[in-house]
Amino acid sequence: MPFLFVVFLFCSFCIPSPVHAISFVAPIYKDSSTLLYSLTLYLKTPLQPTRLHLDIGASFSWVDCDTDYNSSTYQHIPCGSPLCTSVGHNLSCSNCYNPPGPSCGNDTCSLFPENSVTRKTAISAALTDSLALPTSDGSTHGPPLLVPSYIFSCSPPSLLEGLAKNVTGLAAFGRSNYSLPAQISNTFSVPRYFALCLPESTSDPGVSLVGSGGPYYFSSQKIDLSKSLIYTPLILSPVGSTVITYAGQPSDEYYLNLTSINVNGKPIQINSSLLAVDENGFGGTKLSTATPYTVLETSIYNALTDAFVNESSALNLTVTNAVKPFSVCYSAADIIVTRVGPGVPTVDLVMERDDVFWRVFGSNSMVKIAGGDGGGEVWCLGFVDGGVNPRTSVVIGGHQMEDNLLQFDLESNRLGFTSSVLLKGTACSSFNFASQP
Ligand SMILES: *[C@@H]1O[C@H](CO)[C@@H](O)[C@H](O)[C@H]1NC(C)=O
Ligand SMILES: *[C@@H]1O[C@H](CO)[C@@H](O)[C@H](O)[C@H]1NC(C)=O
Ligand SMILES: *[C@@H]1O[C@H](CO)[C@@H](O)[C@H](O)[C@H]1NC(C)=O
Ligand SMILES: *[C@@H]1O[C@H](CO)[C@@H](O)[C@H](O)[C@H]1NC(C)=O
Ligand SMILES: *[C@@H]1O[C@H](CO)[C@@H](O)[C@H](O)[C@H]1NC(C)=O
Ligand SMILES: *[C@@H]1O[C@H](CO)[C@@H](O)[C@H](O)[C@H]1NC(C)=O
Ligand SMILES: *[C@@H]1O[C@H](CO)[C@@H](O)[C@H](O)[C@H]1NC(C)=O
Ligand SMILES: *[C@@H]1O[C@H](CO)[C@@H](O)[C@H](O)[C@H]1NC(C)=O
Ligand SMILES: *[C@@H]1O[C@H](CO)[C@@H](O)[C@H](O)[C@H]1NC(C)=O
Repeated sequence: MPFLFVVFLFCSFCIPSPVHAISFVAPIYKDSSTLLYSLTLYLKTPLQPTRLHLDIGASFSWVDCDTDYNSSTYQHIPCGSPLCTSVGHNLSCSNCYNPPGPSCGNDTCSLFPENSVTRKTAISAALTDSLALPTSDGSTHGPPLLVPSYIFSCSPPSLLEGLAKNVTGLAAFGRSNYSLPAQISNTFSVPRYFALCLPESTSDPGVSLVGSGGPYYFSSQKIDLSKSLIYTPLILSPVGSTVITYAGQPSDEYYLNLTSINVNGKPIQINSSLLAVDENGFGGTKLSTATPYTVLETSIYNALTDAFVNESSALNLTVTNAVKPFSVCYSAADIIVTRVGPGVPTVDLVMERDDVFWRVFGSNSMVKIAGGDGGGEVWCLGFVDGGVNPRTSVVIGGHQMEDNLLQFDLESNRLGFTSSVLLKGTACSSFNFASQP
C-alpha cells in the first residue's frame, strides 16, 4: 500500500503538467584549426559514432563510403524509383565495375554531394542506412531513437578536404525535405523545428536540438532559452548558390530580411538594393556555417568599419595596426572585458522592424589575436570584406552565431534568435549532456 500511495501522489502531481516535447540531441564541436563545426551522431549497423561537418544550408547529408564503411543495413536507392526522382531528380543513374559495396552498385541512383567550404562536388551513389540520435525532453535524457532508412549520399574521401580533420562526411540542415532535421521530423512526425547553439569553446560542445520548439534548458539552473527568442521571417532565394542547381528550385539556404545595420543604435548607410534577393538569387543576407566570420559586400563593410571606428573613438579607443583578414583592431590592453566580451560599440542586425534586431556584442563582434603589432594581444572587428560584387551581400558566419541560440521554425518559416546567451548567464557549451549514452 505505501508503494501505491507514493505512485498515486507522484501521478496526481505530474498528470496536469504538459508532456514535454521530445528533441533529438547532438553535440556540436568547434574545430580549433578550421574554426568549422561538426556534430556526432550514430550511423550504420551496428551503430557507430560518426562525426559529420555541420552545414546549415546543405540539402542532403553525405558520408565517405570508401573508408571503413561496414554496415549490415545499407541499401542503394534504385534508379527511377520515386525516391530517386524526389531526392535526386533521377538525374544520374550508374553502373559500377568495381567490387560491390556502398559506393558501388548497378542501376543505382546517384547524387552530387558538395563541400560548401571548398565548393567541390562529386557524383556518388545514394544510400539509405540506420541513423540514431539520443533524445531529451529538455532536462532528462531518453534513449537513442532509430531512423531505419536515413537517406544520404556517399562521397569520395577527397571531398572531405578542407573540413575538420576527423569528420567523415557532412550533416545537412538546409530547407530541403532530405536534410537531417526534415528526415527526423518526417520519420517521427515531430514538428519541423530545430535549434542550433554553436559553441565558442573548442573544448566543450554546443548542441543541436531537433524536433521541438522547446523548452531548451541550459546550465544547472535550467535556463530555458526558448523563452528568450525574437522571431523574424525566413525568406527564400529563388536560385541556389550550390555548384549543381536545379531549374525552378529555390535555394535550401536560410535567408533573412536584413533591412539595416546599426552601430551603437545608429543606422549605417547601405544601398538597400544590396539587401534584397533578386530573381537570380543575387544579393540579400544568409546564414552560413561555411565561413568563420561574417562576410560583407565592400560598401557595407566600409560603412560598418567607419561607423565602428567613429563610435569607438567616443570610448577613447584608438585603432592599432590591422591583422589580416581584419582591418580594425585595438590593443587588448585598452579594452575592458565585460560578461558579453570586450566593451565595444554594439552592432545590431535589424530585420524588417526597428524593434526586431539581433544585437552583436563584443564576444561576437571581436576576435582576439595574440602577437599583433609589437607582439601584444589585439581585439579585431571580426567581419571581412567580401569584395564589390559578391553573390550574397551579407553572409552571417560562425563567430557571430556562437553563444546565440538560433531556432529554425519551419512550421512557420521563421527564425528565432536570442542574441548572446552570455547575457542570460549561460553559454552554448552549458547544455547538460551528462546522462547521454
Ligand atoms: C564488418 O562487420 C562485421 C560484423 O560486425 C564483421 O564480421 C566484419 O569483419 C567487418 N568487416 C570489416 C571489413 O571490417
Ligand atoms: C530515371 O532514369 C533512368 C535512366 O536514365 C530512366 O530509364 C528512367 O525512365 C528515369 N525514370 C524517371 C521516373 O524519370
Ligand atoms: C554491374 O553489372 C555488370 C554487367 O552487367 C557486371 O559486370 C558488374 O559486376 C555489376 N556490378 C556490380 C557492382 O554488381
Ligand atoms: C575528433 O577529434 C577530437 C579532438 O581532436 C577528439 O576528441 C574526438 O574523439 C575525435 N572524434 C573522432 C570521431 O575521431
Ligand atoms: C518528404 O520526404 C518523405 C520521406 O522522407 C516523403 O514521404 C514525403 O512525400 C516528402 N515530401 C515532399 C514534399 O517531397
Ligand atoms: C545600389 O546597388 C545597385 C546594385 O548593386 C546598383 O545598381 C546601384 O547603382 C546602387 N546605387 C547607389 C546609389 O550606389
Ligand atoms: C561619428 O560619431 C559622432 C558622435 O559619436 C556622431 O555624431 C557622428 O554622426 C558619427 N559620424 C559617422 C560618420 O558615423
Ligand atoms: C576620454 O578621454 C578624455 C581625455 O583623457 C576624458 O576626458 C574622457 O572622460 C574619456 N572618455 C571616456 C568615455 O572614457
Ligand atoms: C523585407 O522587409 C521590408 C520592410 O519591412 C519589406 O518591405 C519587404 O517586402 C521584405 N522582403 C521580403 C522578401 O519579405
